[in-house]
Amino acid sequence: MLNQRSKNLSPSPTMAIDTRAKQLVAQGVDVINLSVGEPDFDTPETGKAGGMAAIADGFTKYTAAAGTIELRQAIGDKLRRENGLDYSPDEIVVSNGAKHSLFNIFMVLLDPGDEVLIQAPYWVSYPEMVKLSGGTPVIIKTDAQTSFQLTPQMIERHISAKTKAIAINNPSNPTGVVYDETALRAIAEKAAEHGLLIISDEIYERLTYDGATCVSMAAISPDIKRRTITVNGFSKAYAMTGWRLGYAAAEKPIAKAMGELQSHCTSGASSITQKAGLAALSGDQSMMAAMRREFDRRRLYAIERLKDIPGLDLEVVPRGAFYVFPNVSETFGRVIGGRSIESSDDLCSAILESARVAIVPGSSFGSPRHLRISYATSMEHLREGLDRIEHLLAGDRQFATSS
Ligand SMILES: Cc1ncc(COP(=O)(O)O)c(C=O)c1O
Repeated sequence: MLNQRSKNLSPSPTMAIDTRAKQLVAQGVDVINLSVGEPDFDTPETGKAGGMAAIADGFTKYTAAAGTIELRQAIGDKLRRENGLDYSPDEIVVSNGAKHSLFNIFMVLLDPGDEVLIQAPYWVSYPEMVKLSGGTPVIIKTDAQTSFQLTPQMIERHISAKTKAIAINNPSNPTGVVYDETALRAIAEKAAEHGLLIISDEIYERLTYDGATCVSMAAISPDIKRRTITVNGFSKAYAMTGWRLGYAAAEKPIAKAMGELQSHCTSGASSITQKAGLAALSGDQSMMAAMRREFDRRRLYAIERLKDIPGLDLEVVPRGAFYVFPNVSETFGRVIGGRSIESSDDLCSAILESARVAIVPGSSFGSPRHLRISYATSMEHLREGLDRIEHLLAGDRQFATSS
């Protein structure tokens, strides 16, 4: 019954784990969820008020498919102010989350067989989106030896006559790596040398620590800006995951095609959400700084804890996003929670079923020797989750069998 496209599709593993954790919670099992990719903070009051005013004022009809002009203008102002990028409203397309922006991008850019370079560890949806759009993901593996960073040489080795674009996620989900300007420039120049488009997913741009800052790919030079599609959104910066609001900024022909595609698929983002986003973007930004400080506190805590948990080796200290991504290959070959561990998938299952902590195996990110722990949860949950994992890995008897 289903077509080949659906058969080729793998469900989002992070969503699947979240669903399984929620199922266990619904059954009354006390699960600590460290798998989530969303801030545990509330949407800022300004954003909520903007959404509520939209409803009260009857701003509840279709908007322009690419988003309201006032929101696109406000996004343009933000990009100018914070990223040093000059985009006019007709170079900006607002969508139902950055996920949707990315999907639009691949849909308007790729012809069958076009290749997109994707760095592993990657965000789970890139390869699937490229496949859905008829393209071929070409995975470039990176590891701790190069601090999970791409180099021009790695790109060179994976280029073919069919390579059309490269997708960069900076700061990175899941590794937390933040590229400095020199490294980013080297990638950009290599892409330009081969005439590639660059998809720059900067959704975690505001969540950087230890003095790291996110430089926008398109700010590298005017030539790089012309070949770059910048992606960002409200989910992580404003704790607005459920509102579904993201955007892309690109040269006019690309933006126009994305808007047209969207006009046939979703007719654009919800009018109410767009008003909420506009209010969040234009309102008091102090909540963002407070959120970032709290994430940093948890990040430092998680880093310290991992030093004492044998089997979880945090090879590269994350300086962005809200994840730690330790190498767990030391646990392979051991029996943990009554299970024989051969992979990070096995370990995550043992941790979920025996220690009742949900985390995501590295295989989901193309990196099967790692796992991802999210610290986008309260300190109390983070502490309890790491305690449980530590006890399980230490062979604590209460976790010796599945519960
Ligand atoms: C790297 C990255 N890009 C894009 C997204 C999509 O965000 P949203 O669709 O909620 O804006 C996520 C969400 O987890 C992400 O981690």
